[in-house]
Amino acid sequence: MPDLAIILPTLDERENIGPLVDRLHGALGGITWEAIFVDDNSPDGTADAARALASSDPRIRVIQRIGRRGLASAVIEGACATAAPYIAVMDADHQHDPALLPGMLELVRTGGADVAVASRFVDGGDPGGLADARRREGSAMANRLARRLTGVELSDPMSGYFLLETRHMRDVAPRLSGIGFKVLLDFLTASDRSLTVREVPLQFAPRRAGASKLDRAVAFEFLVGLYDRHLGRLIPTRFALFGTVGAVGVAVHMAILALVFLVMGSGFALGQAVATFGAMSFNFWLNNWLTYRDQRLVGPRAMLTGWLGFCLTCSVGAVANVAVASLLQANGIFWALAAVAGILIGAVWNYALSSRFVWGR
Ligand code: GDD
Ligand code: MN
Repeated sequence: MPDLAIILPTLDERENIGPLVDRLHGALGGITWEAIFVDDNSPDGTADAARALASSDPRIRVIQRIGRRGLASAVIEGACATAAPYIAVMDADHQHDPALLPGMLELVRTGGADVAVASRFVDGGDPGGLADARRREGSAMANRLARRLTGVELSDPMSGYFLLETRHMRDVAPRLSGIGFKVLLDFLTASDRSLTVREVPLQFAPRRAGASKLDRAVAFEFLVGLYDRHLGRLIPTRFALFGTVGAVGVAVHMAILALVFLVMGSGFALGQAVATFGAMSFNFWLNNWLTYRDQRLVGPRAMLTGWLGFCLTCSVGAVANVAVASLLQANGIFWALAAVAGILIGAVWNYALSSRFVWGR
């Protein structure tokens, strides 16, 4: 049985994984280890490439997830899939130096700490790989926010490179949301017993090949994760997201309606119909990007089918929407008020049907 499992979440890292395995072999002499790639069915065929490595190297294992997305949930699943007593979580793009692993394992194994965290912000560390100043600022801000909200005192709570006893992670796994990037932070806040954490300096290297997946949606997910932890039980997170998207959609709707009805001077019913269709398409796109990010439809075909499905499931609501709004407006209700009433009736349908038929499985 291996002593150490290295959990490597991957999304389009085909070019990086072979060289990374070579570096692991170089760094981990004298340690029995396995590497588990947790791949979210990457379009570039990372899972196939990882299996090709595994066919000649018994240390390599692959978990390929279909229809799932998310760094945090990938890490949790990797941790639950090993019998090794210790796990290390690291990025597969070479930004994390595998040479730190033996020292981190030693620290935890000898009781020096429960969790060893590779930090970019301690003496000897270097956040250099953080592409630009904006990103650097964002990182510092997230760190401050994290410290304030969770009380976890760490120089780099957003680090994606850490090592600990596997059982600690498995113990709290049922309580983790699996949302977003901040696996370590979630883990530390969810552990009820106070774990000791020690940081080791990390020189954050530039990514070897490919591009970062930490886009705007992920930064937004950071906030979603905070919402989930504090208010998620009150109003379920996905419903809150759908509602938020819907509210933005109302603004889009109103803008289109004002354009068609007021500026272009066409009939109200036509304006409401055009605005409904425009808002519907916008809502599909934004829901796919945010609300259902973890099961996002990707590629032109899935997007087209999804969009058609969304329009179809919403069309029942849309008919009721236009009918109710037109009726109210024809009976002298102020046009904007009539529109909102129509939208609310449509929205109930949209959520119920689309969560089941567009993104559901
Ligand atoms: N399975 C899976 N699913 N893997 C993913 C996903 C996903 O949805 N998103 C990203 N990954 C993998 C990437 O393939 C890579 O191996 C690793 O997770 C880190 O992703 P990057 O896209 O390279 O992230 P980054 O370099 O921008 O962010 C790093 O720094 C952040 C703090 O600034 C990471 O270490 C983050 O964990 C860290 O919070
Ligand atoms: Mn990276």
